[in-house]
Amino acid sequence: MAFDFDLIKKHYEQLPAKIAETKKLLGRPLTLTEKILYAHLWDKFPANAYERGKSYVDFAPDRVAMQDATAQMALLQFMQAGRAKVAVPSTVHCDHLIQARDNSEVDLKRAVTESKEVYDFLASVSDKYGIGFWKPGAGIIHQVVLENYAFPGGMMIGTDSHTVNAGGLGMVAIGVGGADACDVMAGLPWELKFPKLIGIKLTGKLSGWTAPKDVILKVAGILTVKGGTGAIVEYFGEGAVAMSCTGKGTICNMGAEIGATTSTFGYDDSMSRYLRGTNRADIADAADAVREHLTGDAEVYANPEQYFDQVIEINLSELEPHLNGPFTPDLATPISKMKEEAEKNGWPTKVEVGLIGSCTNSSYEDISRSVSIAKQVAEKSLKTKAEFTITPGSEQVRFTIERDGFLDTFDKIGAKVFSNACGPCIGMWDRMGADKQEKNTIVHSFNRNFAKRADGNPNTYAFVASPELVTALAIAGDLTFNPLTDTLTNEKGEQVKLDEPSGFELPPRGFAVDDAGYQAPAEDGSKVNVAVDPNSSRLQLLAPFPKWEGTDLKGLKLLIKAKGKCTTDHISMAGPWLKFRGHLDNISNNMLIGAVNYFNDKTDSIKSQLTGEYGPVPATQRAYKAQGIGTVVVGDENYGEGSSREHAAMEPRFLGVRAVLVKSFARIHETNLKKQGMLALTFADKEDYNKIQEDDTIDILGLTSFAPGVPLTLVFHHADGSSDTIQANHTYNEQQIEWFKEGAALNIIRKQFGA
Ligand code: F3S
Repeated sequence: MAFDFDLIKKHYEQLPAKIAETKKLLGRPLTLTEKILYAHLWDKFPANAYERGKSYVDFAPDRVAMQDATAQMALLQFMQAGRAKVAVPSTVHCDHLIQARDNSEVDLKRAVTESKEVYDFLASVSDKYGIGFWKPGAGIIHQVVLENYAFPGGMMIGTDSHTVNAGGLGMVAIGVGGADACDVMAGLPWELKFPKLIGIKLTGKLSGWTAPKDVILKVAGILTVKGGTGAIVEYFGEGAVAMSCTGKGTICNMGAEIGATTSTFGYDDSMSRYLRGTNRADIADAADAVREHLTGDAEVYANPEQYFDQVIEINLSELEPHLNGPFTPDLATPISKMKEEAEKNGWPTKVEVGLIGSCTNSSYEDISRSVSIAKQVAEKSLKTKAEFTITPGSEQVRFTIERDGFLDTFDKIGAKVFSNACGPCIGMWDRMGADKQEKNTIVHSFNRNFAKRADGNPNTYAFVASPELVTALAIAGDLTFNPLTDTLTNEKGEQVKLDEPSGFELPPRGFAVDDAGYQAPAEDGSKVNVAVDPNSSRLQLLAPFPKWEGTDLKGLKLLIKAKGKCTTDHISMAGPWLKFRGHLDNISNNMLIGAVNYFNDKTDSIKSQLTGEYGPVPATQRAYKAQGIGTVVVGDENYGEGSSREHAAMEPRFLGVRAVLVKSFARIHETNLKKQGMLALTFADKEDYNKIQEDDTIDILGLTSFAPGVPLTLVFHHADGSSDTIQANHTYNEQQIEWFKEGAALNIIRKQFGA
């Protein structure tokens, strides 16, 4: 089930009828995004068109992809669903747990030892439930998906925000939390607010030093890190068509940095060539046959203002190479202005390290263009001033660039090749000396450059650029070097200019690989045993959450009244806690430790009503749990914003919190709480937040007649004997009320499959 051409063929066969129906419904020509979304509706066609930015719609994605850090909880949950196999083709990719330090071989060996139990678990669950498993060293999830699974017009979800990379092959691919992945694998629909549409018209043609990366660096400068929120970005125009498929992937990848739901491109010859180049001529042929349904309608692209919510036009012929940063990917500086900006802002101009590759930029084209620059070091008697590293995106790319002599060329400029994994891109870089926290500059071709992202040093100024520009800047060792105009002094004292980069869209001799690192699942998974050591600190099998007891909830204690911002990071911190992502009990020791207690303005210090003492949130909650006392968490506005991390909902559920009552919720977190069988409530009158006192005992009334649209009543009994009765709203529909009653959404699926 890891890959199924028949499913794609069937999808393409049904496409013309679905598109015709969508056109009838909307009464106008369609964008590509609309075609893909309406072709993936879970239910029958609606009577009226969905409202962009308003309607919540159930979709049926074609695939699920998971990376190793997020897959653990997704699969632990899936195991509870009681299904024999996943409902849609799914894959697991081991890329996040490999630390870059020495070189690919040594680093990989170390990771395989350190994370053995996690890898063994992921491999055996995959084997059992029909999931394709990509071993450590096989590559980075998004590169492997592009090379093997993405297909034009498809829809996929992935448990990583850069899942959007697959838009380069004409998909709508969206990053989600593990709970969503679990639902889709279990055969449930996936809900998304119908997005707004941003159209980006690319005119002209890329040339010289300008690369696809510069398109998205420019777009990030225009839209900023928030500009794409709630929208799908659709690229079109002659400039889009002329670009390679992997270049399109780079642009879509960094759509995550403008907050976009995802980005996509219409099907064209570059995609057909890429499919054929990656051994998928059958899909290319099938896509060619329905080509007009895999791109936006010509009328839409001729008059984009009529069909998109926002339109941006970029002339690629005039586009300059950019460097974005430091500390944010939307601070865009054209290379010609870098000298001025660096001086003005006091950015350190000596480049210490240039890093290329990662999920964003490690295509054959990227590497071949970078190598065309690296080659000139020997040809022009130069010396590389900065350190230089390469993180190949997949074993297929690594093997091919080694065969074609590129790694030799890089070796000659002193480059270090890291494992085919995330490494420095996700902060898994044990950079020597980073702990000294010295102010320094690095340039990389990754996507994110927030403080501490790459090496943990808050004083590392990271700038994002195309791999070819990163290579040039590493050679020059100077952030202000503009290869379009400046010269370098070589070993002989001569002034030399670097030639423009050149490369190959696809390997002229084709891709090659010895062992791609793929493990197909067992035909019959029923005999596969998933072993989890009961003494493990990193993995723990989940037990189903208990059903609702069938009565109103009385005598609950206030756990914490959180003040101000309370994101999923405040509720379930990342950093050192990442290693417990597969162990609910252990990771629950971070529950709400970042939330500020309203009553003392401190984090992780709350009053226990059992002892009257102040102590950490998790320990206090565990004491309540030990005595069978349920609790309530009270919060402020936009509670649970940030990510779709399901741990932020599972931890309170696991430790015995019964309800979360807030002024307002971030919607994904609200849904996650509902899925885990919690009560997610909002103050009918936000002023009531002020009535909650530190020693309150709480009753939740109205649960026996819990119904959509009917508020619940909460009584707060204060320590002085007085009480306040308030109304709490909720957004539960019939189905979600069943989730609450059964103890969790998964418990319902379990019942369905007789587990
Ligand atoms: Fe993500 Fe980069 Fe890995 S953005 S998938 S961390 S290579």
